[in-house]
Amino acid sequence: MDYENFIDEQIAHIKQTVGEAKAINALSGGVDSSLVTVLGHRALGDQLRTVFVDNALMRKGEPQQVVEIFASLGIAVELVDAKNEFLSALAGLTDPEEKRQAVTDTFYSKVFSRLVKESDAKYLLHGTILTDIEETVDGIKRQHNILTQLGIDTEKEYGYSVLEPLKTLRKDDVREVAKLLGLPAEISQRIPFPGPALATRIIGEVTLDRLETVRAATSIVEEELADSGAFQYLAVLLNDRATGIRNKKREFGQIIVVRCIESTDARTATVTKLPWDKLNRVSERITRMKGVNRCLYDLTPKPPATIEYI
Ligand code: XMP
Repeated sequence: MDYENFIDEQIAHIKQTVGEAKAINALSGGVDSSLVTVLGHRALGDQLRTVFVDNALMRKGEPQQVVEIFASLGIAVELVDAKNEFLSALAGLTDPEEKRQAVTDTFYSKVFSRLVKESDAKYLLHGTILTDIEETVDGIKRQHNILTQLGIDTEKEYGYSVLEPLKTLRKDDVREVAKLLGLPAEISQRIPFPGPALATRIIGEVTLDRLETVRAATSIVEEELADSGAFQYLAVLLNDRATGIRNKKREFGQIIVVRCIESTDARTATVTKLPWDKLNRVSERITRMKGVNRCLYDLTPKPPATIEYI
């Protein structure tokens, strides 16, 4: 594939389609939405409003970090604080699918649709890639059609349409084009991170306290395993407790699972054979966290397990 040609064509296409109108896109910091953001701004400049929705479920410092990376590329990203909306939608939910649905609904039906309407945008730019379309058709993933997710026939009802400039690319193409357009390695080589974010790594109810615990464990795992070369690595907070000893006293503490896997497309995965010393160090750091007294390494491939825990 001629990537230079792809870039020129997409910029010209976006420019021509949008004309003098306004457009909007949501940036998550993942490589797909980041690439759409750069292409969109090359084509439209200030006509494109880019928002980053802070859903309270991101990793430590992630919202600010993403805004800063794009500022250094000359692209203004608006940070939208929707933490309370997401936390109240998740309050009391323990069923995995209900939790996922709450995050999706809050994003599309509430927060993003409000932003689209108030910004008077006629076009939405969306980072759908070829694999998303194939997996949707195959019934592997839930519907990726943003119009349906918004629950509205937007073109008829509000007069805006969706542009999907990456729909002919696969992930490795996306990474190459992102590099060519000057996105830093921390974006172009970023490990996969799910849309429902840390909510997929908490068994049971998602609360502020439990988010802080899994967020801190995630930072430790990401720091320690950054040089592992693995496809993906993560921390999960279980909904169980176990007895331990801290400061010579019994403690009924929390349990963190560490997962580190090898994969090419996330459809199947095997477990990384991490060196024992590395595993020990991760375990020591995690069990130094307040209230956490067990650290487990997940030995299960996909299938039968999935990569995330919900
Ligand atoms: P599972 O857990 O299904 O995950 O084995 C496969 C890959 O997909 C990521 N994942 C998601 N990505 N939205 C996303 O954009 C989601 O809802 C979602 N759920 C899982 C997961 O991190 C893994 O790389």
